[in-house]
Amino acid sequence: MSGDLEAMAQNLVAGAKGLLAIDESIGTCNRRFGRFGIPQTSEMRRSWRETLITTPGLSEFISGAILFDETIEQKASNGTRFLEILAGVGIAAGIKVDTGTVPLAGHPDEKITEGLDGLRQRLERYSMLGASFAKWRAVFAIDHGTPSAASVAANSNALARYAALCQEAGMVPVVEPEVLMRGTHSIQECEEATETVLRSVFVALQLHGVQLEGMILKPNMVVPGADSPNQVAAELVAQATVRCLRRVVPAAVPGVLFLSGGQPGPIATARLNAMNSTGPDRPGPQPWALGFSFGRAIQQPALAIWGGASSERGDAQLSVLHRARCNTAARQGLYEPAMENHQTPAIHPYSAAERTALLA
Ligand code: G3H
Repeated sequence: MSGDLEAMAQNLVAGAKGLLAIDESIGTCNRRFGRFGIPQTSEMRRSWRETLITTPGLSEFISGAILFDETIEQKASNGTRFLEILAGVGIAAGIKVDTGTVPLAGHPDEKITEGLDGLRQRLERYSMLGASFAKWRAVFAIDHGTPSAASVAANSNALARYAALCQEAGMVPVVEPEVLMRGTHSIQECEEATETVLRSVFVALQLHGVQLEGMILKPNMVVPGADSPNQVAAELVAQATVRCLRRVVPAAVPGVLFLSGGQPGPIATARLNAMNSTGPDRPGPQPWALGFSFGRAIQQPALAIWGGASSERGDAQLSVLHRARCNTAARQGLYEPAMENHQTPAIHPYSAAERTALLA
C-alpha cells in the first residue's frame, strides 16, 4: 500500500478546505460563456481560468484545483505557467482525464464515459507535468427504468479501471459517479439510485485492487429532482445523503467531496453545512471528511460578474473567495446564511432562468 497516495489524499481534505473544479470541457465552458455573451475562444477560456487560479487568498480555502487538458499547460498573461502559480500557493493540481460521455449501446437514453484507451500514457504525461490527482465522471439519469443495471455495471467498471491506473501512476483518483439532479424524481428515488450506484462502484473498486485510503469519492448529494414539486430542507438532504453514504462507503476512504451538480451556491453550502453540524436533526460525526469539489456552485456568480471584462476581474475573484470561504465554514458546520450578506455587493442573485441554465 502506498503511503504517498494516502498522504496526498489526506492532504486534499485537510484543514476544512476543498477542491475547485475548473475542468469543464471546451464545449461545456463555451456553453456557459454563451449565456453571458462571453466570446467562446481559447483565449477567453484561458483568461477565465487565470482569473480563478490567481484569486488572492484562494489557498486558505482550496486545497486542489481540477484542470482540463486545454488548461494544464497554459500560462497567465505574465508568462507564468498555471501549474507554477498553483504550486506557489500550495494548491495541488488535478486533471480531468475522462474524454466525455457517449450513448451506451443498447441503452440509448444512458451514457457511458470514455477515455480508457491510452490513459496510462496520458497519466504519465500529466504526472510529469506536476498533477498529483485526477478525476473521472460517470453520469446516471433517474427516469423510467434508469439507471439500468447495464449502465451501472459498465460505468462502475470504467471508474475502477481508471482509478487503478491512476494509483499505478502515483496519482490520487477522484472517483465521480454522478446521479443527475435533472428531473421530477423524489429525494427517496435519488437515495435509492445513489445507493445502488455507489454500492456497485465500491464492489468494482475493490475488485480492481484500488487502495481506498488513497482515493477520494466525489458523489452527488441526495436531493429531489430539480423539477420535483417536493423540495426539502437542508436537514433532510443531509440525513438522506449521510444515511446513503454510511451504507456503502467504507470508512477507509478519507474524503467524500461533493459535486454541486447545478445547485445554486448558497443552497449547496447550506446542505453541506447541515451534514457537518451537530444537533438533534443533524447526522453528527462521520468516518470520512464531508467536503466540496464544486464547479458551478463556486464559479457561476463570479462568471456572471466577470462577463469577459478584465475590469471586473477583482470583483469576480471576491465572489470566488466568498463562496470558497462559505464552503470551508460549511465543512466545519459553521456556515450561516447571514454570511451571504457580507459578500461583495457585486454578486448577482440567481434568476429563475439562471437556475435552469445552471443545470445544463
Ligand atoms: O464534473 C463536474 C465538476 O467537476 C463539478 O461541477 O459542481 O458544477 O457539478 P459541478
